[in-house]
Amino acid sequence: MKKDWKTKLIHSDVRVPEGFRSLATPVYRGSTVLFVDATAVDDTWNQYEAGYTYGLYGTPTVLELAGRICELEGGYRTIITPGGQAAITLVDLALLKTGDHILLPQSVYTPSRKFASRILRGFGVDVGFYAPEIGCGISELLKPNTRLVWCESPGSITMEVQDVPAICEAAHKAGTLVALDNTWAAGVYFDAFAHGVDVTMQAVTKYVAGHSDLLLGSITVKDDAIYQKLGAAQQLVGIAASPDDCSLALRGMKTMAVRLKAIEAGALEVAKWMAARGEVEIVLHPALESCPGHALWKRDFTGSAGVFSVVFQKSFSKEEVLRFVNALELFKIGYSWGGVTSLAVAYDFRGSPGRPDYGHRIVRLSIGLEDIGDLKSDLEQALGKMR
Ligand SMILES: Cc1ncc(COP(=O)(O)O)c(C=O)c1O
Repeated sequence: MKKDWKTKLIHSDVRVPEGFRSLATPVYRGSTVLFVDATAVDDTWNQYEAGYTYGLYGTPTVLELAGRICELEGGYRTIITPGGQAAITLVDLALLKTGDHILLPQSVYTPSRKFASRILRGFGVDVGFYAPEIGCGISELLKPNTRLVWCESPGSITMEVQDVPAICEAAHKAGTLVALDNTWAAGVYFDAFAHGVDVTMQAVTKYVAGHSDLLLGSITVKDDAIYQKLGAAQQLVGIAASPDDCSLALRGMKTMAVRLKAIEAGALEVAKWMAARGEVEIVLHPALESCPGHALWKRDFTGSAGVFSVVFQKSFSKEEVLRFVNALELFKIGYSWGGVTSLAVAYDFRGSPGRPDYGHRIVRLSIGLEDIGDLKSDLEQALGKMR
């Protein structure tokens, strides 16, 4: 039909040559997805069955990232969320209802703990916490209505490695699902599904993305029954991941192996160097014997990441610990981790129930890709300024 120029702005007849091939995944944006005809209109979220229906459920860019993470983790399907915390809360919302019981480790990522103790409790879910070293002892905490046990291994900041297979065995005997925050292992250094886990999540924000420039999360499930629950919940909660961020994550993924290898080696060197310092009481790095659960790390993991914690001697005041962090020049102060820049954050566990007695003396380090000699020099000069 003949078109006015204003219509041509929207409905153009221009055709570019076909057959473009490139190594980069194209960015397909959504919201509106076109149907071939009026009878094809469908609001099904499961685009693997129904074809593309709406941008919220993922464009080809989002689903490629989902598929690639699923492939790496050896799961059944993966759902991409706008951040790691969104992945955690979507698992909770999809798998729990009023009257159910959930268990989380005391060492769980704090926003996950808060979501459970504030939001889930508000919805009438019975929320309990357990010592991360509990292993098969979890069976004593399981109730007839326990629907979900979370694991996070190693735990946030205090780094306890968990006996995930023992927890899975006990939980499965009671008909309870196990979800794992597998972010530290980047979904690759701990084979969650081989160790019995039903649902994994990762903050893709960290090692998959790898450059501190986006926020994404992933949930990977072991079977279709769990996938149906999660997909249906994602549709109704309405959280969509940005295709632009997914394309960046796909780019980050290509170099994840070499980044992880360099970060692992650097972190081990720095951890051992810190462990030999007189100012330090203990280094909490799963690959060091000083870390609670080190033997489990050796048994179950195939590598280690760049995040670990340092506990200073009892004689150091909070001000002195903060002076150390403030004196660092190459290590920047900030949450999140997994990028190329080394980071340091001081924590204070006084008044935190179930946390080890490290008080104000614990600092989490995330090792990036700087020269390790330079990082050690930076730590050395900062240690010298504590007193
Ligand atoms: C272990 C762990 N899980 C989940 C998250 C949440 O990820 P995001 O920052 O993408 O929401 C974080 C973030 O720091 C984390 O450390």
